[in-house]
Amino acid sequence: MKKITFRMSSDFHVHFRDGPMLKKLIYWIASVYYYAVAMGNTKPPIVSGEQVANHRSEILKGASESGLPNFQPIMTVMLVYGMTPEILEGAYQAGARVLKLIPGGASTGSNHGVVLWDLPRFYPVLQKAMKLGMIFSVHCELIVNPQTGKNILLYDQERMGIKYFDDVIKYFPELKIIFEHISSKELCQYFLDLNSKYVAAGFTAHHPYVSYFNVCNSENRIINPYLYSKPIGKFQDDINAVRRLMTSGHPRSIYGSDLAAHPSEAKENKPYAAGILNLPKIAIPDLWQNVFLFDLGPGKKTKQIFENFTSGNGLRFYNLPDYDKTMTLINKKWKTPRLVEGMKVFKGGEYLDWQIMKENMIR
Ligand code: NCD
Ligand code: ZN
Ligand code: ZN
Repeated sequence: MKKITFRMSSDFHVHFRDGPMLKKLIYWIASVYYYAVAMGNTKPPIVSGEQVANHRSEILKGASESGLPNFQPIMTVMLVYGMTPEILEGAYQAGARVLKLIPGGASTGSNHGVVLWDLPRFYPVLQKAMKLGMIFSVHCELIVNPQTGKNILLYDQERMGIKYFDDVIKYFPELKIIFEHISSKELCQYFLDLNSKYVAAGFTAHHPYVSYFNVCNSENRIINPYLYSKPIGKFQDDINAVRRLMTSGHPRSIYGSDLAAHPSEAKENKPYAAGILNLPKIAIPDLWQNVFLFDLGPGKKTKQIFENFTSGNGLRFYNLPDYDKTMTLINKKWKTPRLVEGMKVFKGGEYLDWQIMKENMIR
């Protein structure tokens, strides 16, 4: 049986949630990933040092109760109205390493998020983040056109958000920024043109596949809420650009699955919740098989690029201690679970040629 051993993956973008789902999510995440960046768009959003510390200890407790005591969550704090440099510093002292922006109305749990045209009001916060060496993690979407007051079409929201970062980058050239879940050719190009060691690109486990017309009909109505995430899947040119950058070997191309579970009621009733359940034990072998092997072909170089994408690049950008823990994939067909805890899984019920060896999942 063919096997391949990698450095264990880390996931630089997950949502742990709170409440009853938390324990399960911890188990799924911590059994596959060494580090995971825990986005703070919980209800209420994570803003203060105290909230950072509580969420962190909940996650650590859950991991340890699941027999995964070595798991390391990386904590975030949300850029909401009311955020100040002092609050940010408190959050940093409590362990937050990432300042997360989900603009108001852009996605799940973004009610209090700063909209892009208000960013200048928060430059003192960005200044502080830069000083502290924190990472500014950006959900780049403009929802309402400030000129017309009208909603922007879902597939235009990401590219329309880009220009608001020109000034951020100009005024804070040494602020580390990661553009998360990149889905458009325009944002890929923007990232490449910046060519700054302070700016990174995050890619999910679903944007290499999901296109707009998998999600919406020609009247822009959502027809498949299970494939609906923000930013929404785009078009073939965009998918090609995303895949090219993911697999290019670029040193700041970073994996962040955007694992975003929602209960079925929230996925099946309007307004549909945005978010896709990228189950870690599916996402990793699927990316390996259907993105990296598929686009690059087998070989040493492919292995290296995949390994950097799913660990090394993120470790370096986030300045995290290296680890030597490995993960082995075996070339053995299996059928992915359709549901977990009653929730539909992305690529569930399909066959994959590769799987993570069971013993990797216990540490
Ligand atoms: C995420 C969620 O459900 O928390 N949803 C999503 O569609 N990606 C939030 C986010 O990352 O924007
Ligand atoms: Zn987002
Ligand atoms: Zn997310």
